[in-house]
Amino acid sequence: MKQRYLLAKEWVAQMGEYLQEVTSQPFDFSAKTGHQDIVTAHDKKVEQFFRENIHRHFPQDDIVGEEFSGKIETGSGIRWYIDPIDGTTNFVNLRRNFAVSVGCYRDNQPVFGLVLDVIRNDLYSAFAGEGAYKNAQKLGEGRVPENLGEMILSTPNVQDAFWRGYPQQNAMLRLADEVRAVRCMGSVALELCQVAEGTVDIFVAMRSAPWDHNAARLILQEAGCRISQFGEEELCQDRETSIYACRSRGLAEKLRTEYGF
Ligand code: IPD
Ligand code: CA
Ligand code: CA
Repeated sequence: MKQRYLLAKEWVAQMGEYLQEVTSQPFDFSAKTGHQDIVTAHDKKVEQFFRENIHRHFPQDDIVGEEFSGKIETGSGIRWYIDPIDGTTNFVNLRRNFAVSVGCYRDNQPVFGLVLDVIRNDLYSAFAGEGAYKNAQKLGEGRVPENLGEMILSTPNVQDAFWRGYPQQNAMLRLADEVRAVRCMGSVALELCQVAEGTVDIFVAMRSAPWDHNAARLILQEAGCRISQFGEEELCQDRETSIYACRSRGLAEKLRTEYGF
């Protein structure tokens, strides 16, 4: 699996350079399911690049990506999750705060996760059992605040979190009043990595796809953080789900027992 990890790192770096370059140029986008769900030719190009390279080196591996439905269930037990650009709206409008996200699992266990913050050129990475890193800096060693009043809550979609009537909406409203502040970056992968690096304390998404969170999941776990879905211990791997992440087991327990997570 180390060979896959090293190659994946090279591919992510190459795609980071490519996206940095195109960010300074004008480009078109189109709507997928509606005006709040857009895609560019660059999303497709980056995913195609990963698909071709993975297929060339590891033809037996499964690939799950956002933009193309690919082959799955080849029986190899190895599955890649690719979000070519997580935060396409940020890519198009803000030209920052978007990521390339690549995770790889064997027998349903995460083996490595890579999330590149393209514009800052910060690589969040983890290999199972070897810790989580932001570039060369080890993650998970900072102080975890004791009180909600010192914490930052992050959520990638404010409408979903606060007024679309999801079952946890009231708990979210309560939490929003109790934390120091609520922030919304608009990239599930990067917001999860902010929890791993300790700049955000709690992250909640009412819905998240496998390619959104499966790379950052291991980065969080290796940094000693918790990631789960509402009402469950384990995060499901292969379908859209709610997710919440936080910086400690104690905080996860508090969210579960006092806020109904
Ligand atoms: C989206 C972003 C966004 C979140 C959406 C995701 P995309 O991913 O992570 O923050 O609210 O649910 O789909 O479409 O930019 O890859
Ligand atoms: Ca995404
Ligand atoms: Ca995407």
